[in-house]
Amino acid sequence: MDYFTHRGGVLHCEDVPLSKIADAVGTPVYVYSSATMIRHADVLRRSLEPLPDPLIAYAVKANPNAAVLRTLGAQGLGADVVSGGEYRRAIAAGIAPHKIVFSGVGKTADEMALALEGGLFQFNLESVEEAEMLSEVATRIGREAPIGFRVNPDVVAGTHAKISTGGAENKFGVPYADTHAAYRRAAELPGLRVQGVAVHIGSQLTSLAPLEAAFVKVGSLIGELRAAGHAISVADLGGGLGIPYNAELPSPPSPEDYGAMVRRIASEWDVRLVFEPGRLIVGNAGVLLTRVIRVKPGSTHPFVVVDAAMNDLMRPALYDAWHSIEAVAPHGGRVTANVVGPVCETGDTFAMGREMDSVAPGDLVIFRTAGAYAAAMSSTYNSRPLTPEVLVNGAEWAVVRKRIDIDRLIAADAVPEWLASAQA
Ligand code: LLP
Repeated sequence: MDYFTHRGGVLHCEDVPLSKIADAVGTPVYVYSSATMIRHADVLRRSLEPLPDPLIAYAVKANPNAAVLRTLGAQGLGADVVSGGEYRRAIAAGIAPHKIVFSGVGKTADEMALALEGGLFQFNLESVEEAEMLSEVATRIGREAPIGFRVNPDVVAGTHAKISTGGAENKFGVPYADTHAAYRRAAELPGLRVQGVAVHIGSQLTSLAPLEAAFVKVGSLIGELRAAGHAISVADLGGGLGIPYNAELPSPPSPEDYGAMVRRIASEWDVRLVFEPGRLIVGNAGVLLTRVIRVKPGSTHPFVVVDAAMNDLMRPALYDAWHSIEAVAPHGGRVTANVVGPVCETGDTFAMGREMDSVAPGDLVIFRTAGAYAAAMSSTYNSRPLTPEVLVNGAEWAVVRKRIDIDRLIAADAVPEWLASAQA
């Protein structure tokens, strides 16, 4: 459910016509709905009740915008971070350190020190080597590091290979068979406090079965680790629940179904549960608003060339992802078209042979479900300005990231002295 709806023939985000934002800010531009994010956070929280005090640590990577983090922080969400940059963003947005978990396979000593000094709920470690580095850092700066290991349960997540993380061949986590040795080693390292177990098997999961299989393994592991003398009080079940992108496909399991499954599997574990949802919270809360530059004839279908490109929204090029495409003010006709951006690559294609609203040059179009992994993954490829972002809240709206224009991009480059006076 989201708050992008047609009123009087024009698509609105909450109470604001998207045409108004396009006129004021220009295109392409990301537009986010506060009410949608808040609703999704609330639905997830309610679906987990009556678990005792779960920590919902929003996966910052999905959308790290400061205004998004503030919106979610105000709902009581914590943060799952995977870099020093994300840790600093979470803190800057007012998220309390005791609600922050630090994940990721390649944390550096500097990133560990940053989080130890600022405080956090737990490091999710992915190898014994990482535990050894963290032990050294913690000992050096005189802080105790709360840790859990991310276990790789070797389950097939059934999602796109590039966002599947829980198979034995993936780089993530400690292989299930090696977990006992890893906990034994961590327990003897100075500066570490072993407290948790973590798992995350992939993203955009459209079935609960692989999640359930992974959680069952985590449950057994908790029992075994306790029997071996480790005081396990935290289980981090990661993120990954899929969301609908294409209305013609069956909907992924609802947060309610997910919550019921978690309660069935985990209610006797006697731990504090942590969740790391990203896409579920912000995915449907955003659209990429773009304008049609021209419609060019094609051999089978016309090419609708829009002013957004793969640098603004990479998911179709990277994962063949489907984003629904709609006119902001439909004229009524339908067309089958290829929708492409201006970047000089065939991969800069949003959709081929898509049945959609017929559009003309100058018309506004949206790509739906662009709140997660969209602006977050944008770049300035082809020297295109970095897309701005707008947050809507009822009838109010504000630019929450300015367009990083070409002047700023040129200014960030430096010409070395030996070239400064070189002329052809
Ligand atoms: N926790 C960990 C350790 C993760 O690696 C991720 C996502 C999450 C939580 C959040 O997963 P979510 O609830 O959002 O599924 N760029 C890709 C998605 C990459 C996901 C990476 N990890 C995409 O556009 O589909």
